Amino acid sequence: MTRVCVQIEFALRCSVQRYHAIARESASRMAEVPGLQSKWWWLDEQAGRAGGVYSFESREAAEGYLAGPVISALRDAWFCERVESRITEILAEPTRRTEAALGAARGAAPDGERVPDASATERFAQRVLGDLSASMTGVMVRLGHELGLYRALGEHGPLTSGELAVHASVRERYAREWLHQQRAAGYLDYDRESARFRLAEGAFAVVAATDSPLFLLPAFDIVASMWADEPRLERAFASGEGIGWGEHDPRLFGGCARFFGAAYAAYLVRDWLPALDGVTSKLAQGARVADVGCGHGVSTVLMARAFPASRFVGFDSHGASVDAARRRAEESQVSDRVRFEQATATDYGDERYDLICFMDSFHDLGNAVDAARHAVSRLAEGGSVMLVEPLAAARPEENQGPLAAMNYAASTALCTPNALCHHGGIALGAQAGPEALRQALADGGLRHFRIAAQTPFHLVIEAR
Ligand SMILES: C[S@@+](CC[C@H](N)C(=O)[O-])C[C@H]1O[C@@H](n2cnc3c(N)ncnc32)[C@H](O)[C@@H]1O
Repeated sequence: MTRVCVQIEFALRCSVQRYHAIARESASRMAEVPGLQSKWWWLDEQAGRAGGVYSFESREAAEGYLAGPVISALRDAWFCERVESRITEILAEPTRRTEAALGAARGAAPDGERVPDASATERFAQRVLGDLSASMTGVMVRLGHELGLYRALGEHGPLTSGELAVHASVRERYAREWLHQQRAAGYLDYDRESARFRLAEGAFAVVAATDSPLFLLPAFDIVASMWADEPRLERAFASGEGIGWGEHDPRLFGGCARFFGAAYAAYLVRDWLPALDGVTSKLAQGARVADVGCGHGVSTVLMARAFPASRFVGFDSHGASVDAARRRAEESQVSDRVRFEQATATDYGDERYDLICFMDSFHDLGNAVDAARHAVSRLAEGGSVMLVEPLAAARPEENQGPLAAMNYAASTALCTPNALCHHGGIALGAQAGPEALRQALADGGLRHFRIAAQTPFHLVIEAR
């Protein structure tokens, strides 16, 4: 579809202000022009030229206007000279090519789908860029941890790149590039005068203090394992097959032990066990404890150190983790009261326990209901079960923000695949939430359910 236009251009012979007044005055008379649909007047102040584009419903109307009194009056007008005019035809709609180019520039979907608001697209692109930057920063963070760069900065900072290179025994050129990456990422502050870098305010407890409950760096080992196993996960999405815990890249196991272990060291003995009904007094006197899905045995050893009169058994289906747990017990000199066995959550133990713990393992079990049932069969009189689970809201859609996104990612790559190894069971996932956990426990015969404690990251559940 085309539109007929009259284009007029002339040299302006009056002040711009005066021309504005003339244009305002004549604008009201344009309504009387037959067949006129719209008009645009333009002014090029620097070139001293002005004009207009008038769109008409037909060529006859355009020609009538061009030959009529308005244009002849313009040719005689005092405020302009050298009036030029012509009729042109323009395409009424944007061309597909233009539309596609505009859409692409604004991030639109191809082929005429709604062009999203450019600012929303830009905001979303910024968000994804943040994730991209975080992913690559993660590699730098792991390097910083593995090479002792944060430790050196924490102990000796502020440091120049040369000083960091000496303290951490790395090459200066690599250190310098890493330091600037970390500065750009907000982990470090930089003093231009001295060319020294220091840990940003608040960073020490998170990246350098290995005994802090907020020491988060081991989690990057988990991320590294997830990337390494990503092709396998891709295939599992298509086939529906499970991936057993022990099949993952080995960085997962140590990463979990150290990441979860930092929180266990801070909370387990001090807050979580005392939050359970009557448990610490039993442990102090001498009780039997099972730690199911104990991994490297961090929680088991912590409890054993705190309650020497009690006896602890850690069970895990992953043999290499059981070996690591045994080494930990020896190094911590608690082998007299702790032992570790390779067993599953549904066949462990031939004794009775006063406390059965599932430390971040219950939701990993495809047969969680059977595991609850087995726990019931292994509980001593008056015994209880403790679940430590990732914090989750009551409904999946209420789990929002970075923590929930991280937990769901771990759940998608690690917890759910492990659970799917048990065909026909339930795969709770790491964000199942209290109601789904309560149901699984109740179905297994543990009908008393109580949220005993909570941290920004964990739910601690008591069941019997
Ligand atoms: C997320 S890790 C937690 C490990 C440890 N509790 C911790 O907090 O560091 C889950 C653990 O459950 C173990 N696991 C998975 N399925 C199991 C099963 N059916 N029986 C026993 N252990 C199992 C895994 O081998 C792994 O060590």
